[in-house]
Amino acid sequence: MRKSEIDTPALILDLDLVEENIATMAEYFRARPQKLRPHFKTPKTAEIARRQLAAGAIGITAAKLGEAEVLARAGLGPILIANQVAGETKIDRLFAVAARVETIATVESEFNVRELEAGGARAGRSLDVIIEVDTGMHRCGAETPDETVALARRISRGPLRYRGVMGYEGHAVLLPDPLKREATAREALSILSRHVNALREAGLAPEIVSAGGTGTYDIAGSWPDVTEVQAGSYVFMDGAYRVVRPDLGKPALTLLTTVISRRGDRAIIDAGMKSLTNEFGPPQGKDLPVKVTRLSEEHGHLAAGSLEIAPGSKIEIVPSHGDTTINLHSEYYVVRGDDVVAIWPIEGARAYR
Ligand SMILES: Cc1ncc(COP(=O)(O)O)c(C=O)c1O
Repeated sequence: MRKSEIDTPALILDLDLVEENIATMAEYFRARPQKLRPHFKTPKTAEIARRQLAAGAIGITAAKLGEAEVLARAGLGPILIANQVAGETKIDRLFAVAARVETIATVESEFNVRELEAGGARAGRSLDVIIEVDTGMHRCGAETPDETVALARRISRGPLRYRGVMGYEGHAVLLPDPLKREATAREALSILSRHVNALREAGLAPEIVSAGGTGTYDIAGSWPDVTEVQAGSYVFMDGAYRVVRPDLGKPALTLLTTVISRRGDRAIIDAGMKSLTNEFGPPQGKDLPVKVTRLSEEHGHLAAGSLEIAPGSKIEIVPSHGDTTINLHSEYYVVRGDDVVAIWPIEGARAYR
């Protein structure tokens, strides 16, 4: 099948570019003490995780337990769940994942530790854990080095295995000004280092120190205390990241759409918010200078100016945010040039439990 024959709207994955993006990031980490544990929250397909591991990644990071289950079913890991898993139902599922593939969970308070200890008693096994540190994003995480040390001590007294810490500088990764991004990331990583030093002084030196996203992969990836980086978006380089890191990677993901109406300077495509997201700004055309200015459920408004775009034309749109657009789909149409070479299931789409 040719790309132009795919029914729309459909996610198109350019395999040559994905392979290039995976290779570029793998090469950065190849000779460093810091390693790459790519985030599954972006591609959500075992096909890509398998390629990242083959290229040298030390494991895979997951945001949700449902994603970890996809990886475990595919036999891929070791898995770091860089998020808290809460509630008995989930914790029993977490121990089932850990029974299949080496898994590290993330805790941020004694509540998590108690829940995991109880889950471990039910499952009859232990679990590796790291502590999340708030490095300035103010989402989850221990806020002071004393809190982190107390939590590490608490873990070490019980049956769970304390492995280290993580601190994701999500407030820095998408800052468009490179100087501001670097300064904010350095500030965040300095906070992480203060927690690491306090742990070392307490005799609880962390073996794992995880940080970083695509926008800061090289800042986190060269920070002496960091041992691994959890970048995800680099594999596709969505519209937002193309602006923030034009030096890195190629846009490897598009949404193929069909124009269903053309009036004045407006063209309407058959992709609305059920197949495309715009929370990181208006998605843009890949080959044409068009912008998706508005999304309703089933329709996308293209600012098409005087471009000759007739109803029936197919247009490729670069999503401004890959992760949330991918989440709306069930498969990638994998292309090399204009040929469709495979259809890959997005097993981790909507795996939000
Ligand atoms: C905890 C965590 N780590 C890593 C990432 C990956 O970041 P990026 O998409 O910038 O590669 C995210 C993204 O939201 C995240 O929430």
